[in-house]
Amino acid sequence: MTPSQDQSGRWQGKRAFVVSRKDKESETVTSFILAPEDGLPLAAFKPGQFLSFKLDIPGHDKPVPRSYTISSSPASALLSDGAHYRLSIKREPAPKDKPDLPPGLSSNFFHDHVAVGSCVQVGAPAGDFFLDDTEDGPVVLLSGGVGLTPLISMLDHLVDQGSSRPTWFIHGVQNGAEHAFGAHVRELAQVHDHITTHVVYTEPGPGDSKGRDYDATGFISIPMLESLSVGTDADFYLCGPPPFMKALFNALLDWGVDEARIHYEFFGPATVLKDGPKEQPKAAVAALAAAAGVTVTFKRSNISVPWDPAHETILDLAEANGISPAFSCRAGVCHTCIVDLLEGEIEYVVDDAYQPEEVGKVLICSSAPKTSVVIDV
Ligand SMILES: Cc1cc2nc3c(=O)[nH]c(=O)nc-3n(C[C@H](O)[C@H](O)[C@H](O)COP(=O)(O)OP(=O)(O)OC[C@H]3O[C@@H](n4cnc5c(N)ncnc54)[C@H](O)[C@@H]3O)c2cc1C
Ligand code: FES
Repeated sequence: MTPSQDQSGRWQGKRAFVVSRKDKESETVTSFILAPEDGLPLAAFKPGQFLSFKLDIPGHDKPVPRSYTISSSPASALLSDGAHYRLSIKREPAPKDKPDLPPGLSSNFFHDHVAVGSCVQVGAPAGDFFLDDTEDGPVVLLSGGVGLTPLISMLDHLVDQGSSRPTWFIHGVQNGAEHAFGAHVRELAQVHDHITTHVVYTEPGPGDSKGRDYDATGFISIPMLESLSVGTDADFYLCGPPPFMKALFNALLDWGVDEARIHYEFFGPATVLKDGPKEQPKAAVAALAAAAGVTVTFKRSNISVPWDPAHETILDLAEANGISPAFSCRAGVCHTCIVDLLEGEIEYVVDDAYQPEEVGKVLICSSAPKTSVVIDV
């Protein structure tokens, strides 16, 4: 065992993994198969969970944190002869309306510089978005774009389990160039009567064929679900870009689906959350707070430190002081990092953060202190 690893294969902090294979899944999505460098057992995970990374990217003085879902099913990942995790990463280009901006940092680093034999530092599987496999009713897996990765893991898990739950895998994506795992899902639906798949392209490409590559043009909608005989009593799992999630979540509620049956995860929409002028207020808040002698107290960790304007957020400060709070998107979207603010005032430095409605709660990935603060971390 590595010093930080327990009998179940779980580990604390980061563990070295080596890329043992790269598989192209579409023009924009590539899978990376990661095997533990120490050759010891892998931690079990639930279908839908993700791994966190701290990437050493040349030209960046701090490791770049990102999360990627395990796109394989637990059974296929934990094979005794060659245990591995599979990630499937979409290369993020610059936004269409801002082509001069740099393309996605981590995803392009993975595609261009992480090769077979490369080593990456990986945090143990985490996340609350996973398939509840104790249920036995119908299940609807709804994805947009690369948001299909957790749902592929869930679909494969249902198949591995020999489940006969009526299952729909409904996927919306731009076109065939972006469409990953199409053949795999179609094959599963052909072999298993209880699995239905429906693929919707927003802009089919010249080589895309209706009936072979996709089933409809446009967006996923409630009439479409009705035409596929999906009922409101199913469990719905959603993952995709924010407009997709927002539209479907509200449409499902309006249709009469019980909110408790709708499970979802955002993939940290950095394109939405990032814009040029945002660095300005961050720097201003940080500098003001530092000038005022502000301290941040992490109560449960029993650590109190002066606010340091070199850090952008309270989460950054916590990590710099050896504390590892839970996080996922680091963009104010997923609410994984939400904690109690016990004393003091903070300010959101990520303008588009989805601020919690509950009084006394704060997203530490997106905020900096305005006054000295005590937080429940
Ligand atoms: C729980 C979780 C699971 C995830 N799973 C997956 C997965 O399975 N597969 C996957 O592909 N992704 C997944 N993601 C998303 C992934 O973590 C990254 O967010 C994604 O790869 C983009 O990161 P990046 O570093 O490439 O892009 P970033 O560098 O974060 O950039 C994102 C976009 O912003 C643009 N941009 C750059 N600078 C600016 C600027 N100044 N202003 C405006 N825009 C700018 C870039 O051009 C790019 O389009 C997951 C995220 C989470 C939170
Ligand atoms: S880590 Fe996602 S909101 Fe903070």
